[in-house]
Amino acid sequence: MQDIAIIGGTGLASFPGLKIIRKEVVRTPFGEPSGPVTYGDYCGKRIIFLPRHGSRHTIPPHMVNYRANIWALRDKQVKYIIAIAAVGGIHADINPARIVIPDQIIDYTYGRQHTYFEKDLNQVKHIDFSNPYDQTLREKIIKAAHLISIDAFEGGIYGATQGPRLETAAEVNKLERDGCDIVGMTGMPEAALARELEMGYAHCAMSVNWAAGRSEELITLESIRECTEVGMEKVRMLLAKLMEIA
Ligand code: HPA
Repeated sequence: MQDIAIIGGTGLASFPGLKIIRKEVVRTPFGEPSGPVTYGDYCGKRIIFLPRHGSRHTIPPHMVNYRANIWALRDKQVKYIIAIAAVGGIHADINPARIVIPDQIIDYTYGRQHTYFEKDLNQVKHIDFSNPYDQTLREKIIKAAHLISIDAFEGGIYGATQGPRLETAAEVNKLERDGCDIVGMTGMPEAALARELEMGYAHCAMSVNWAAGRSEELITLESIRECTEVGMEKVRMLLAKLMEIA
């Protein structure tokens, strides 16, 4: 698998272990990406890295310029995007620090620039989004997890919410009734934009808290941070194995 980009999420604004080769500022017709794209070597594989929230984690989910980010990656000939995403666990088996490779998405976001098709309306393409993730890429991620004995949750529905606030317990109950297993704020429109530009996209999600109302404890930034650290170590190991087999 060639021409891979990793979009880093919360906990992966910088990428320990990535040998940086160079950084490039990319201009796009849709404005500025979250930062320069970084060309690097991770475990012997050339990749491109882009931290979704900026290199100092200053861009919140509802302010990310998703169109510029995905455009910049396509401009650099990326064919596959592995999107790292911190999420809340709704399904009883998705405890904090568990990795999830979802297979479906429900979009609850609003007011985001969510398509490239808005200027030349003769060119509007109704992309097939029945299966929002690239199945080959998902299978590779799952295989990498097996090879290093990480007990990833395989499948599940990612509910994309607007943020930046976390949900109410009642909202999470509704998400669960809709079938969502995890909830995060950045999965959309990112996945759809990648499909519009014909790139393969898959999530490597990591639960960093029980979703609202799923635990007695308050969701604090401190607890999310602790969990992110534990989970990110697993994500880095998984990515290292993936680089070997992809
Ligand atoms: N809800 C939405 N987004 C999130 C959460 C959550 O509980 N945790 C991490 N990202």
